[in-house]
Amino acid sequence: MTGTRAPDALPAFGYAQATSATLPHRCLSVAEGRQEENLPVICVEGLHKAYDTPAGPFPVLNDVDLVIDPGEFVAVMGPSGSGKSTFMNILGCLDRPSAGHYVLDGRSVAELSRDELALLRNRTIGFVFQGFNLLPRMSLEDNVALPLVYYGVGREERRARANAMLHKVGLGSYAKSAPNRISGGQQQRVAIARALVNQPRLILADEPTGNLDSHTGEEIMALFDDLNREGITIVLVTHEADIAQHASRQVRFLDGRIVHDGATEHHEESMNQEIIRC
Ligand SMILES: Nc1ncnc2c1ncn2[C@@H]1O[C@H](COP(=O)(O)OP(=O)(O)OP(=O)(O)O)[C@@H](O)[C@H]1O
Ligand SMILES: [Mg+2]
Repeated sequence: MTGTRAPDALPAFGYAQATSATLPHRCLSVAEGRQEENLPVICVEGLHKAYDTPAGPFPVLNDVDLVIDPGEFVAVMGPSGSGKSTFMNILGCLDRPSAGHYVLDGRSVAELSRDELALLRNRTIGFVFQGFNLLPRMSLEDNVALPLVYYGVGREERRARANAMLHKVGLGSYAKSAPNRISGGQQQRVAIARALVNQPRLILADEPTGNLDSHTGEEIMALFDDLNREGITIVLVTHEADIAQHASRQVRFLDGRIVHDGATEHHEESMNQEIIRC
């Protein structure tokens, strides 16, 4: 393979080496006294985002603070236009904040070069989008293997890892098919396999069931449940209360601010409480 490869090593400042010069105070104090494996995956402090428009800066995110720990399953909710995708794009390092701090897996994103950021993103995060985003002329196997190409992984290993991921999402026998030969739910499974191929510790999913009927959506959510049980941290945007029930924590945006952040109140629990009250 030709082309530029990302550097193999990230600079040695994570929580372990951090000082207040490299990490913001709140993220440092959240991390204090914790074991290495329990350090936050995401710590966001005082985050602002304004888009440049011909009419001037258009504020979308306003003073957002959020800490997400390893193994959490967080549903991000809120009305259309409240800033959910803007926030997810910043968490996924696809966009930069206008102000504030973002610490991903112990590293202050603002201090990384482009190559370092690409390496951290590829190692840490798997993305799943509403529109699946599969390349139509490639087989499912090649779609899933694509993130490995950027790492310079050899062809045979790419194929083996892609097939292992397709098996994991129940599509092992479809490896040579084209995306237009399978259903929307199956395409989303392939997109999840692609997100997993680099073994990320964090999955960011922006309305992954938005294009699916409710039954297929539930099947996709069962897959996310399994991944979360395996220890992968999940942050998932949804408009649907039933989908958000799969998460253990719900964060609600309104006009670019977090207006609610709390444990999911599960249907059964609230029904039991009703019975106790009766
Ligand atoms: N590139 C951009 N330039 C200017 N304004 C933008 C841009 N992207 C988004 N916006 C605006 O920012 C606001 C928040 O958009 P965002 O896509 O984050 O909302 P959302 O909560 O994800 O909405 P939805 O539920 O409809 O997906 C909206 O008013 C949107 O029009
Ligand atoms: Mg959105």
